Amino acid sequence: MADMEGFQEAKAYGLGTPQTNEAFFLKGNENRGWGVKNRLSRIFNKKSGRTVMLACDHGFIMGPTSGLERVDIAINPLIEHADCLMCTRGVLRSVIPPTMSKPVCLRADGGTSILTDLNLNRLYDIEDVLRVNASAMALMVAVGDKASEQVTTHNLVQAVDFGEKYGIPVLGVTAVGKDMARDARYFRLATRICAENGASFVKTYFTDEGFETVVAQCPVPIVIAGGKKLPEEKALELAYRAVQAGAAGVDMGRNVFQSEKPLAMMKAISAVVHDNLSPKDAFQLYSDEKAVPA
Ligand code: 5RP
Repeated sequence: MADMEGFQEAKAYGLGTPQTNEAFFLKGNENRGWGVKNRLSRIFNKKSGRTVMLACDHGFIMGPTSGLERVDIAINPLIEHADCLMCTRGVLRSVIPPTMSKPVCLRADGGTSILTDLNLNRLYDIEDVLRVNASAMALMVAVGDKASEQVTTHNLVQAVDFGEKYGIPVLGVTAVGKDMARDARYFRLATRICAENGASFVKTYFTDEGFETVVAQCPVPIVIAGGKKLPEEKALELAYRAVQAGAAGVDMGRNVFQSEKPLAMMKAISAVVHDNLSPKDAFQLYSDEKAVPA
């Protein structure tokens, strides 16, 4: 029995102060479960409503991608400057320290490579997402690709079913088929299909024209991939234009780890995404950071 000595009568009932329930800060996710919202809150910064995800899952289709030959050397020092790490379970288990406390967006599908039928992927054992305590799972969705559209959409649906059961958000990754145009029209279709099938957020590419319409019609947040390596100032401009057009952040890989100074690039991208720093000022930040001796 609890020690009753010095027992204090409960009286702070806050009479007259109605209990508040704050609205959830990410679009389209208000009606999800507590676990999904809590995990999304670890990935997205509540103040800016945005995220800087560091993508290093390229090896699962591309092998030892330039800049990722040694993930331990290239990526581990950057993790603390990202809001979320996106990687495969193989890299996670082999080189990412389990003591790190950043949320993980785990790639949850695989099976093909750049040498064969890209995107004809299968879902992994989804319970692995729970075993490694991931905060989200990412899956390719190849809208419009005859060979893989059905299987990848089915993967997404299965992952969402599992995610709803256990409170884990799903990131739908729009995989552009070889014959598809990378334009706003295509990305409106692809992102919308991911969201309609239940993705909590969607990863896609920025388009020079009409990107704001891609964001507007997608009922959940959009993050952009960086794509192939650009000069640093151009990559910062890409991130800036995307968030100014409504993107909720970036999930960038090559433009970080293939940069001359990846750590400086992480800091500059973060300032663009969270503080709306202009590309010019962000490039100055990058250059200043680059000059700092390692
Ligand atoms: C591949 C991915 C990659 O993580 C993605 O393309 C991000 O990397 P990058 O900025 O290098 O394009 O999801 O499916």
